[in-house]
Amino acid sequence: MGATDTAAKRAIPAGFESAHVTPDGYRNMYETSVSDPAAFWGEEGKRLDWIQPYSKVKDTNFDFGSVSIKWFEDGVLNVAANCIDRHLDTRGDQVAIIWEPDDPATPAKHITYRELHENVCRMANVFLSQGVMRGDRVVIYLPMIPEAAYAMLACARIGAIHSIVFAGFSPDALANRINDCGAKLVITADTAPRGGRRTPLKANTDAALLHCSDRVRCLVVKHTGDQTTWIDGRDVDVLALMQTAAPDCPVRPMGAEDPLFILYTSGSTGKPKGVVHTSGGYLVYAAMTHQYTFDYKDGDIFWCTADVGWVTGHSYIIYGPLANGATTVMFEGVPTYPDAGRFWEVCAKHKVNQFYTAPTAIRALMGQGPEWVEKHDLSDLRILGTVGEPINPEAWTWYDKHVGKGKCPIVDTWWQTETGGHLITPLPGATETKPGSATLPFFGVKPVVLEAESGKVVEGNGVEGVLCIGDSWPGQMRTVWGDHQRFQETYFQQYKGYYFTGDGCRRDEDGYYWITGRVDDVINVSGHRMGTAEVESALVAHEKVAEAAVVGYPHEIKGQGIYAYVTLMKGVEPTDDLRKELVKWVRTEIGPIASPDLIQWAPGLPKTRSGKIMRRILRKIAENDYGALGDTSTLADPSVVDDLIDNRMNRG
Ligand code: WTA
Repeated sequence: MGATDTAAKRAIPAGFESAHVTPDGYRNMYETSVSDPAAFWGEEGKRLDWIQPYSKVKDTNFDFGSVSIKWFEDGVLNVAANCIDRHLDTRGDQVAIIWEPDDPATPAKHITYRELHENVCRMANVFLSQGVMRGDRVVIYLPMIPEAAYAMLACARIGAIHSIVFAGFSPDALANRINDCGAKLVITADTAPRGGRRTPLKANTDAALLHCSDRVRCLVVKHTGDQTTWIDGRDVDVLALMQTAAPDCPVRPMGAEDPLFILYTSGSTGKPKGVVHTSGGYLVYAAMTHQYTFDYKDGDIFWCTADVGWVTGHSYIIYGPLANGATTVMFEGVPTYPDAGRFWEVCAKHKVNQFYTAPTAIRALMGQGPEWVEKHDLSDLRILGTVGEPINPEAWTWYDKHVGKGKCPIVDTWWQTETGGHLITPLPGATETKPGSATLPFFGVKPVVLEAESGKVVEGNGVEGVLCIGDSWPGQMRTVWGDHQRFQETYFQQYKGYYFTGDGCRRDEDGYYWITGRVDDVINVSGHRMGTAEVESALVAHEKVAEAAVVGYPHEIKGQGIYAYVTLMKGVEPTDDLRKELVKWVRTEIGPIASPDLIQWAPGLPKTRSGKIMRRILRKIAENDYGALGDTSTLADPSVVDDLIDNRMNRG
């Protein structure tokens, strides 16, 4: 394997000699960053404006039982001031956000830093008038509209903690998150246009709030003007209030370790956890990775196609770019509406320099043919990025050839909601790439490969194992909201002294990292994380379902698809209609991203004598690789496996 990996190395394209980081620069700076992290990050922290400078840089402990992570802990700052106010003198009239609407016939909006400041202040004043105080939680359930950015930054301005719930999540999922974080307020929109269709966000919020305290206020952005129900005394027209609110609002000085946001993400067990990121370290890390990974320079137009409902949107649409004074593109729509050329049309229209998207989108567009790309002038593109899942070399090569014309470095960025920013990624100008490899660690990041079973450290190159990180970096999550014990158990218990990522990896002969996917019961569908346990518990909540087991299987476009084995209650007829009903049920329970792609009726599930479902076997059958099932002798009833194989759904 090592030999082919080496052969596949791609040289750095011409024109990147003056990139922020050169090959030698990378080696030296990386060495410094890991040998003396406190000195290194102490310098990097200065990229922010501090109301009161820090004197302590790093105070972190990965020991299970006493895990504690603090960066710049005695520093005082305000994140919104760093993303807006400090730019006003030098770039008040520069565009901060280019908003590109779903419908290409609607004009784009260009919001300058000065306008951003005014809108954020007005929204912050509305929040204050609704009784939101420092440390209170605000749930944001908005589409990709400028008000989502205003709401995030308004929270940061007044020291409230935001928790964005992706607008594709169901009322139940929204209610769970509002309740888990004890939000005082939820901000939503009437309806959300996407790909020409409309999601009824306000109606979803109404349904969610039936399960929440009646003290939760509901702020509504009248975005489309669609009719919605209105509950006097609870619902508030936020745009109307913003018009009369003061255009100025002082920033609240915050401790570096005060929480900035909570973002719920799926794990291998239980309900989604509230990942907590704090103010100082997170912003230093988001800003620094944005600058170096994308070789961002003043005046660049940066476009990350993620949704602000995911961590990628937090770090690389809002916080990183704005902290750097960039012009960031915010896109309301989807890659294929009104046609498969939309991404490239938007790149050309706004003269995008850095374009950052997910492999699933690349694969989908690749299937539509290169003519959709070739119609548009992409000469301003300088850097291409991907995130969310391993990118297959075929998609990488297509992206390189048709979008980048062989001239744009591709940064395949590996990271997680938990990590706040990129941990393993090439740097343009510094790193030769290999299609499919996330390459080398970012500054300050110490990847460690361990043997899965024994937890023994695997040294050297040409090795494989589970991926852990040996020491803290400023963008690391600090805790699980309300459950520090769960934080420790999830990430620090299995491999003592390390942060466990949940991913497997290979380190090739050149020391390059290849992420091989999750080693736990998390699946990655179109770059979105889904806990198999969540889908299972949604399925068994249906009255006709006795038992369910969910696994991932390879899917051409989505990366992984959701394969569900369902055992029905006694006497229930397995029909195609019931299949459809169950898919619909899961969509309502969690959201469309959790819809099972394949449902197999399973009269029995393969279990050990102690009753544990043997997922390894279910995975193999779902992968259509049932020839190599391994040892089935520990099964309570080996015959169930034959039935599952005979009736498997994925014969592709
Ligand atoms: C996967 C998204 C391979 C990985 C930022 C990780 C990747 C999970 C890559 C986190 C990549 C993300 N190559 N796999 N470049 N980027 N992943 O929390 O399995 O939504 O653990 O964060 O996505 O997903 P999350």
